Amino acid sequence: AHQWRGVIREYAARLPMLRDSPVVTLLEGGTPLIPAERLSHRVGAQVWLKYEGLNPTGSFKDRGMTTAVSYAAGRGAKVVVCASTGNTSASAAAYATKAGMRCVVLVPDGKIAMGKLSQAIAHGATLLQVDGNFDDCLTIARKLDEVYPVELVNSVNPARIEGQKTAAFEVVDALGDAPDIHVLPVGNAGNITAYWKGYSEYFHGSSEPGPASHRPRMWGFQAAGAAPIVLGHPVDHPETIATAIRIGNPASWRQAEAARDESGGLIDSVTDEQILAAHRLLSSTEGVFVEPGSAASVAGLLKAHEAGLVPGGATVVCTVTGHGLKDPQWALREADGSEVQPVRVPVDVVSVARALGLDG
Ligand code: F0G
Repeated sequence: AHQWRGVIREYAARLPMLRDSPVVTLLEGGTPLIPAERLSHRVGAQVWLKYEGLNPTGSFKDRGMTTAVSYAAGRGAKVVVCASTGNTSASAAAYATKAGMRCVVLVPDGKIAMGKLSQAIAHGATLLQVDGNFDDCLTIARKLDEVYPVELVNSVNPARIEGQKTAAFEVVDALGDAPDIHVLPVGNAGNITAYWKGYSEYFHGSSEPGPASHRPRMWGFQAAGAAPIVLGHPVDHPETIATAIRIGNPASWRQAEAARDESGGLIDSVTDEQILAAHRLLSSTEGVFVEPGSAASVAGLLKAHEAGLVPGGATVVCTVTGHGLKDPQWALREADGSEVQPVRVPVDVVSVARALGLDG
């Protein structure tokens, strides 16, 4: 039988950290790189979407969780713990279940999407809603890790970054080379750190040369109400409808700046309105349904295009990080914010045809 074997087995040679660990996998990775024709036309470049919503738990976190939980299992861990805006907790809960471990998740009070909450509960995680925001949750999770026999699986754990770097490998493997520009949403900044590591390791100039002739410019976008890196200082009360990236003090702040600076890239912000417009554009013109946080990459690309920053004909990859079904409520709003009302019809074909305008 031939099937994708998950990122640890597919990229074993480039994951030395995992060499002596058991493999805990749900066969994550191997996600499609989808050509986005309408978007390409609009920005005058060749745009591809790395659709990470198609991972086993519906987000890119699975790439880092297979490695973090496998590494924890190799160390004999019995309990994994994480702070999360939702996706990390869903992924940690699923992989802990697969490994036969207990999973403890700390989530910000009331600010986690229903789909993600359901996943953590379904997989049997012990879920505590902390009376604070994500940054508070992460502070507590780090202290738990220092003092108690638990394994922290947030992206401050190097095994997470190792797993997530495989997405960059997949992009290069699919395109035959690195893109010119790679665009990502930025929250806690682990993912932009991981992609940059992946592109750097897969570059022919690296210590163990890879297939890419160059490295892309890294473009990261934060939500305007949660844009500490753009502002240059932590945000005490981050706010955005894109709850996945509602983070005021990213753990990998310095690494994100390094990715930006070493690549000649940028980190900027997009408003909630721009995020929702990109969310709508992806679903209604590309057929790709993502959660709002994911749409920050495409919102950023559109903003950069309007500022004249996208070189004509450039190859651009936007990672869309999580599935639209995670947080589906946003699709049920009109552009003006009112609720979409389904058209009601009686049980007869003539009425249905009339409602569809098929009767001339
Ligand atoms: N997109 C989605 C859908 C996310 O869930 C996250 C982060 C990001 C983007 C940002 O990635 O943190 O590596 O910069 N979610 C974390 C969580 C914080 O807890 O699920 P980042």
